[in-house]
Amino acid sequence: MCSDCHVPKDWSHKMVRKIKASAELWGKLMGTIDTREKFEANRLRLAENEWARMKAVDSRECRNCHSFEGMDTEKQKLRGAKMHKIAQDEKKTCIDCHKGIAHQKPKGMKEDDDE
Ligand code: HEC
Ligand code: HEC
Ligand code: HEC
Repeated sequence: MCSDCHVPKDWSHKMVRKIKASAELWGKLMGTIDTREKFEANRLRLAENEWARMKAVDSRECRNCHSFEGMDTEKQKLRGAKMHKIAQDEKKTCIDCHKGIAHQKPKGMKEDDDE
């Protein structure tokens, strides 16, 4: 479900999100970005917007389903386990490393430090 990642679950977060959304590109998605071309042209900005939002809320939507506490790093592949240890030590959030988890990454993104 799109809303699992894009819409906060509880009411107060939802309201804050709603208010913020009116000022954000995201809120205009259904309105002005109505063609494939416009979508592609705006994707990077939309994605950056969503990365910034998730970073600001410590990837709360991801953590509705996943958590560091719930992870069994013994069972994870070496690379993931190692990174999740570092992530907790350095207080990183999910979206710092897991960009493009549900979608293709937009063309032209600068980061080269993610998967
Ligand atoms: C509605 C619940 C839900 C939400 C929200 C969710 N996930 Fe997941 N995620 C899952 C499930 C279920 C799996 C599959 C578990 C498995 O295969 O072990 C999964 C798998 C993954 C995987 C490993 C598989 C892969 O494709 O590489 C990563 C990484 C991951 N999620 C990160 C995230 C991040 C980052 C977010 C937030 C942007 C997120 N998830 C949001 C439920 C969720
Ligand atoms: C410092 C970077 C980093 C951060 C922060 C991070 N991860 Fe990961 N994660 C990784 C790497 C690297 C892998 C291994 C990917 C691979 O092997 O393809 C991974 C793997 C995973 C997997 C798959 C595990 C497996 O072995 O099946 C899940 C699920 C996952 N991450 C969820 C999360 C969630 C949820 C958060 C936030 C609570 C998070 N990660 C934060 C780097 C990170
Ligand atoms: C597992 C979490 C997750 C789910 C489920 C999810 N998204 Fe996303 N979405 C993200 C993240 C994270 C970003 C930021 C860009 C990125 O990392 O891919 C994003 C970015 C976007 C963007 C900005 C443009 C782009 O392509 O980056 C749009 C539009 C979007 N999502 C729509 C949807 C729709 C529609 C659905 C349901 C079909 C959906 N998302 C389901 C996590 C998710």
